[in-house]
Amino acid sequence: MRVIRTITELRQAVALLRADAKKIALVPTMGALHDGHMSLVKMAQHVADCVIVTIFVNPTQFGPAEDFSKYPRQEIADLALLTEHNVQIAYVPDVTEMYQPGFATTMQVGGVSGGLCGAVRPGHFDGVALVVTKLLLQAAPDIAIFGEKDYQQLMVIKRLASDLDIPVEIMGAPILREKDGLALSSRNVYLTDKERRIAPELYKCLQQCAAALTAGGEVTSLLENAISHLLSAGFSSVDYMELRDAATLAPCTHYKGQPARLLVAARLGSCRLIDNIELTT
Ligand code: PAF
Repeated sequence: MRVIRTITELRQAVALLRADAKKIALVPTMGALHDGHMSLVKMAQHVADCVIVTIFVNPTQFGPAEDFSKYPRQEIADLALLTEHNVQIAYVPDVTEMYQPGFATTMQVGGVSGGLCGAVRPGHFDGVALVVTKLLLQAAPDIAIFGEKDYQQLMVIKRLASDLDIPVEIMGAPILREKDGLALSSRNVYLTDKERRIAPELYKCLQQCAAALTAGGEVTSLLENAISHLLSAGFSSVDYMELRDAATLAPCTHYKGQPARLLVAARLGSCRLIDNIELTT
């Protein structure tokens, strides 16, 4: 596997692949790779000839009180895992390569970035939009793959790629879960043993609420019940539990079988867990 750290070198590598008519898939990550990331890599290998995985802990998507400095970083282990999975290129720029002195551009994607994580983490999606746009312009992939665990992020990225006419297909990959249902996340390492035992309640609660919604239950009261359930299970607070339109993320006050997604973010000790589920009729 080739490890590339500069934009110039990445562009040269991509130009050679293009000259060879290779289809390129990009898998952007912040490292601390786990099986969830590897499922994105496998999907990328299925749809393209060459896979580029990026590892970059992007400072612009973290708020001042968030975990940028303590976000898990394990480059050597990550690169070994990518090599084991036959990834051709790991793109690992440092902060000064991505944000050169004098950098002054900001981005804001309206609509889908409102509410949910956008309300709780002001500026987060601006930073995500900025770095993903830069990565798409730097690597010029045919396809870019993002996990559905960050469902709102996926919708923000689809929106920006479409609005900015970036010639790339944005694909979502299904959420990978532990046996007990907890969605895989690099941040799960923050959970204490006790919190880890409580954490699977998040998915159980999503499943129960989704089943009740599809059975025709009243949306507002079911969402309220689900929040109470999480608080009694041991979550310290619930940022949101909401039913949204699957494509526009507009709030759904009624459910009549339309494509919808139930999304949750809840806090457990120092850890903030997010998850979501598709409503199927
Ligand atoms: O989901 C992530 O890991 C990050 O938000 C992303 C898309 C790599 C941008 O930094």
